[in-house]
Amino acid sequence: MNDTLTNSGVLAAYRARTPGSAALAQEAASLFPSGITHDSRHLEPYGVYVSRALGPHKWDVDGNRYTDFYGGHGALLLGHNHPAVADAVAAALADGTHFGASHPRELAWARAVQRLVPSAERVRFTSSGTEATLMAVRLARAFTGRQTLLRFQGHFHGWHDHMAAGYTSHYDGSPTPGVLPGVAEKSILVPPNDLTALRAALETNEVAAAILEPTGSSFGQVPIDAAFVRELRRLTEAHGTLLIMDEVVSGFRATKGGAQAAYDVRPDLSSFAKILAGGLPGAAVAGRKDILDQLDFAMSAQAGREKIQHQGTFNANPISAAAGTAALTVIADSDAADRASATAQALRKAVNAVFAAEQVGWGMYGTFSGFHTFLGAPGVDLAPGAFVAEGRPMAVLKSQPAALSHKLRLALLVNGVDVNGRIGGFVSATHTADDVANTAAAFQAAIRMLRTEGELPE
Ligand SMILES: Cc1ncc(COP(=O)(O)O)c(C=O)c1O
Repeated sequence: MNDTLTNSGVLAAYRARTPGSAALAQEAASLFPSGITHDSRHLEPYGVYVSRALGPHKWDVDGNRYTDFYGGHGALLLGHNHPAVADAVAAALADGTHFGASHPRELAWARAVQRLVPSAERVRFTSSGTEATLMAVRLARAFTGRQTLLRFQGHFHGWHDHMAAGYTSHYDGSPTPGVLPGVAEKSILVPPNDLTALRAALETNEVAAAILEPTGSSFGQVPIDAAFVRELRRLTEAHGTLLIMDEVVSGFRATKGGAQAAYDVRPDLSSFAKILAGGLPGAAVAGRKDILDQLDFAMSAQAGREKIQHQGTFNANPISAAAGTAALTVIADSDAADRASATAQALRKAVNAVFAAEQVGWGMYGTFSGFHTFLGAPGVDLAPGAFVAEGRPMAVLKSQPAALSHKLRLALLVNGVDVNGRIGGFVSATHTADDVANTAAAFQAAIRMLRTEGELPE
């Protein structure tokens, strides 16, 4: 554990509030590597165990309430247990969980996608965003007959072999443990917003596809210029390279039509997950008919080419289809995405006001319904509460003082707020002005706890 936690009042307060979580974490340690089931849930000495959730809040096994900004890893634009989603799930459950056959709910789900995303001429459901980007890359390589994949440093597209390097490490594209060098070397990693490097990579005319998180790495932790995304579209088209927008996070969130609608950029392929399935497992690759026709039996035979195979036991699972259709319908018929973005803006403003009042050189920033917190980096001198992320290099924005952010996260939990390990998160359409005010107050209380422990100047 980080040394600054020894004799820490923050740690003592966290332990005192969460004995039930501590007991479960102890049991989990004998079941799971690091006691967890997703890397981002790694928290020393242990994370909280949650037993129920509603709207923007969740409760741990000890009965503590949290304002939740984890938001189901971004899946819950409509908050926890939205009534329309819960009702749709209950109705679908009553009908059965798996038919081993096509079913009406998968059609409704695909129509709900097409209603919001005009580039989705065809849709193929998968079980996770990781599978969706894997299929998108396979489709692109087969369609273009090219092997190279262009990615951007820091952009995350799931954990499969073609995407493993370059997210938090291996920015040179070298293979991470367990990945074949031959696979890793078929990815080119380009710094985001670097047009010169992008042009050089595309001019080889060997790039099958470029894939990006269209609002920048980790939903804008490292912002990307809309102009860069548009130029990427123009250049990829000019060089016969397909553009894959990974809208696993931004889809149905940045706007109801995703980032592609926000930027007015039409990709060849998109990957969706998270909100797509209304908080249940589910994902999709969607896009141009001529590209997805490679999955079509008759079209492949007609073209005289080998069909790309695609199985998946839980593809278009009826319960996920019901949840996804209900969520996408609410999003289509309401201002949920815009409301979440407006609340996030209010949150960023309120928390920055706290940073200014407390005279800490931190900044909360972000776009749409996301937020990120910059806690300072060597050589970056900040006016408290007036941080601008645009134009700053990835190395600066991604470098968090680890011990400080760890302690801050625990202090926020003690004060009833759950954010991710980067002190960022997702705002839902159910967060209210009260949640904003309570979260700002929690930041203030957390800062004061850190100051008492000598982590911040008096
Ligand atoms: C942009 C992006 N793409 C792909 C994925 C992978 O999705 P999944 O976790 O459903 O495999 C994620 C997951 O967080 C993501 O943020």
